[in-house]
Amino acid sequence: APWVLAALAVGYLLGSIPFGLIFTRMAGLGDIRDIGSGNIGATNALRTGNKWVAGATFLCDAGKGAAAVLLARQFAPEAIAPALSLFAGAGAVVGHLFPIWLKFKGGKGFSTFIGINLALYWPVVLLFGATWLLIAVIFRYSSLATLVAVALTPAYLFLLGQNSILPLSIFLAILIFVAHRGNIGRLLSGTESRIGSKKS
Ligand code: G3P
Repeated sequence: APWVLAALAVGYLLGSIPFGLIFTRMAGLGDIRDIGSGNIGATNALRTGNKWVAGATFLCDAGKGAAAVLLARQFAPEAIAPALSLFAGAGAVVGHLFPIWLKFKGGKGFSTFIGINLALYWPVVLLFGATWLLIAVIFRYSSLATLVAVALTPAYLFLLGQNSILPLSIFLAILIFVAHRGNIGRLLSGTESRIGSKKS
């Protein structure tokens, strides 16, 4: 139990670093929460018009997820390292969605989801990444692409025989859907903004 708590805590602390907010502010672009959808993630960072800020946000939000998994794998006792890396990954997404520093109002989790999957089992990232790109190119909605990619990830993991990651993947899919509830409403009412558009 102490190891599980430590993995969750380290994952949470890493995940709760709001890179989108930090980078937007550092670039002198104001508070990202006042821009576009108000989200602190890479998609909304792109609505500042600064591709570098968006790219850095994506890389660091993904990187913190990967770092959480790799740290758990590195420092935990060998026998429990695989399980603890799952808890660290879960902690990172929870930290990104509910950062204590932002009164628990964080992001939507897809970049961090990519990072933890890269570190846990990278081949699945090729499959859900291709899914994201396909939906994004066809429909130009980042949120829709994320929802489809995240929903299919448990199925991809199952097909790839990675059953040990399945429960985490289902848990994260549910969390990410809940985080996108506003987007889902806008998609259904036809008011969601397209990738690169400045509107919310
Ligand atoms: O995963 C896509 C999601 O981050 C969309 O962000 O800013 O359009 O709500 P946003």
